[in-house]
Amino acid sequence: MKITLASTILASVAYAAPQLDSRAYGNAIHGSLSKRAGVQYFGVNIAGFDFGCATTGTCNTSAIYPPLPALGGPDGPGQMAHFVNDDSMNIFRLPVGWQYLVANQLGGTLDATNVANYDKLVQACLGTGASCIIDIHNYARWNGAIIGQGGPTNEQFASLWSQLATKYGSEPKIFFGLMNEPHDVPDINLWADSVQAVVTAIRNTGAENTILIPGNDWTSAQAFPTNSGPALLSVVNPDNSTDGLIFDVHKYSDSDNSGTHTDCTTNNIATAFSPLADWLRSNGRQAINTEMGGGNTASCETLICQQVQFVNQNADVYIGYVGWSAGSFSPTTYELSEVPTNNGNTWTDSALVQACFTNTA
Ligand SMILES: *[C@@H]1O[C@H](CO)[C@@H](O)[C@H](O)[C@H]1NC(C)=O
Ligand SMILES: *[C@@H]1O[C@H](CO)[C@@H](O)[C@H](O)[C@H]1NC(C)=O
Repeated sequence: MKITLASTILASVAYAAPQLDSRAYGNAIHGSLSKRAGVQYFGVNIAGFDFGCATTGTCNTSAIYPPLPALGGPDGPGQMAHFVNDDSMNIFRLPVGWQYLVANQLGGTLDATNVANYDKLVQACLGTGASCIIDIHNYARWNGAIIGQGGPTNEQFASLWSQLATKYGSEPKIFFGLMNEPHDVPDINLWADSVQAVVTAIRNTGAENTILIPGNDWTSAQAFPTNSGPALLSVVNPDNSTDGLIFDVHKYSDSDNSGTHTDCTTNNIATAFSPLADWLRSNGRQAINTEMGGGNTASCETLICQQVQFVNQNADVYIGYVGWSAGSFSPTTYELSEVPTNNGNTWTDSALVQACFTNTA
């Protein structure tokens, strides 16, 4: 620290700027984004602990394929270190099935062995210095039935997150991705109640982590302003603020928006990201896109790069984007592979990551 005259110190105390509230949810890390040239966070998904989970929310825990050499899988830790060191990525999303974390006991306690396995990936992520999203990859369901609407109770959903918040609440670089891609949820207001129950449970543990809040419609960025956003605006922290509550959206660029085709047909700007940016701005809120991407093809390189540029230019409302997907997928046969290939001491990125993934506008 620089030596300063005592009179200057007194003056600076008297006129000190307000301190950041030590209880600022989300650790106030998503503020002042309007001055940024690009989004605060960009990275990829590191999938594998979600393998075996279907869109019905049924997860076959025998089918997981952890992206961890220590568990016989691909080198997720090496992939993340490469993405940070060579591409300047700074966030990874780590999908995992609900059933795996509680060893198929709905409402039960976290399974020590399974959580220790998943935690190896979490710690490898944190070890790179990046932020890490815990993503419960269950489509608002457990074995076909919808949370709070015939399936798991809100208390059972909140119990899962309360336990995870107790485990990870002291690490601000961990973001809580409450639920991957709710879809066909009949009552959006009841879904908002379920989300509120979880936010309250997380905050009641003392955890101030950033929480990612998903809407219906497979978390569609396009549908959000009209279908889910109005109900989810009411979800608040115990102090009634919305600090650290970031909306979670997805959008794919193939012909049927499924994220299963190697060719892209839209950059989604006019239909989704521009109207959503307007909606977020007018409501004073922010979002993160935690699944986007396409094949390693010329059409996707053109359209995804346009989308990334738009998101970077609207970094006041978009805190980041996360591609789908690296991790345990095959770099040669998976349609949307963002898996880098290891050449010994160096890595080569997929064509789409090379072409488009950047945080500069
Ligand atoms: C669960 O996954 C295992 C491993 O892939 C597989 O052998 C088994 O058939 C699957 N079970 C069901 C019910 O799909
Ligand atoms: C939050 O808002 C509710 C409803 O308006 C109110 O009853 C409650 O007292 C508020 N809580 C705090 C901490 O301000």
